[in-house]
Amino acid sequence: MVIQKHGPLRGELAVPGDKSISHRSVMFGALSEGITEAENFLTGADCLSTISCFRQMGILVEQNGTSVVVHGKGLHGLTRPSGIIDAGNSGTTVRLLSGILAGQPFDSTITGDTSIQKRPMKRVMTPLSQMGASIASVHENGCAPLQIKGSPLHGIHYLSPVASAQVKSCVLLAGLYADAPTSVTEPAISRNHSELMLRYFGADIQCEGTTSTVLPDPRLTGQKVNVPGDISSAAYFIAAALLVPGSEVLLKNVGINPTRDGMLRVVRAMGGDVTLINESTGGAEPCADLLIRSSSLHATTIEGELIPTLIDELPVIAVLAAFAEGTTVIKDAAELKVKESDRIAVMTENLKRMGADVEPTDDGMIIHGGRPLHGATINPHLDHRIAMSFAVAALAADGETKIQDADCVKISYPGFYTDLEGLGTV
Ligand code: S3P
Repeated sequence: MVIQKHGPLRGELAVPGDKSISHRSVMFGALSEGITEAENFLTGADCLSTISCFRQMGILVEQNGTSVVVHGKGLHGLTRPSGIIDAGNSGTTVRLLSGILAGQPFDSTITGDTSIQKRPMKRVMTPLSQMGASIASVHENGCAPLQIKGSPLHGIHYLSPVASAQVKSCVLLAGLYADAPTSVTEPAISRNHSELMLRYFGADIQCEGTTSTVLPDPRLTGQKVNVPGDISSAAYFIAAALLVPGSEVLLKNVGINPTRDGMLRVVRAMGGDVTLINESTGGAEPCADLLIRSSSLHATTIEGELIPTLIDELPVIAVLAAFAEGTTVIKDAAELKVKESDRIAVMTENLKRMGADVEPTDDGMIIHGGRPLHGATINPHLDHRIAMSFAVAALAADGETKIQDADCVKISYPGFYTDLEGLGTV
């Protein structure tokens, strides 16, 4: 994909459905009795992987574009998978499904593509083992493939060393099959979509501070889920509209759950003009339309409890920081190293190619912003969020930028370049 410096972005856009919520609608729908209908479901490759995993375990899932119908069979209705379960590139699928598989009366093996086979799974193996699960890394390297022998599970109180919704959700899902309540306490609050949606489907879940507790053996009932627009996808258009002078973009129906909205807080702290319109709390998740106007940005510090609320947006925030006046510090974000790529290394490498002054650190980046950036050839290392972040950088950089393996965006946003073009850019 070749992208040139461009004039103002103008218009309206509804970004696709939230990835985290789409995954969960299929998973929790499968474990519920009756029908779950998800609207505005994300048709990105990761969520399609989740659908195919549940089909492998006997669940009928009908997909017609962004409408998905899951014929749930209840908490104990999954059947032994037909073969090795393939989660593709999706960390959410492997980790959440591991929690579900640990409590089943059958054995299973779950794996994914070469990237997923390098991502850390000890973080779910440790708490699941404490619950009595039998879960082993086939190559004994702490990564997938994971071999899971269904076992009776015990309720635990897990003190998680990382603020990770994937770890928390894995343990809470295993807790549905345990013999007593299961709690997870995190160092900082991570996205709470599992808690909100499981409660909506009928589970007994309490949340207090950074602790979430689930009671075992609930009767879950299928529901209608209106998936809000993904704030992590909206992030690229928020950034592009802020950076390109004269832009004004309205992003319709974006999820603004406070455990996900850190980017909005950061761009406002940087001087970004972001207005929330039509705020609604219909359903389990709050939403709003976001009106973004181009703004001159200044540096900020991003750290601590804010990090889990914008973890997936840090690549595009780093792009904003490269154009902002002053030095932006991102810290407490070592998790970036174990995402779809090592996002500290890959962002640093590519920002430097465009002429930015950026230093990688152990847990983030220091970005001395305000230098003019120039077009370059970008290697996203097959990471969808890196490719989209540099498509944004390209709009505000001098000359022409070439993004290699640009179709990796299909993981979370198959229509990304078309939507960018719709705002008058590509
Ligand atoms: C996700 C949680 C986050 C996020 C990922 C989706 C989820 O990962 O980066 O894209 O749906 O629970 P961690 O929980 O590992 O931080």
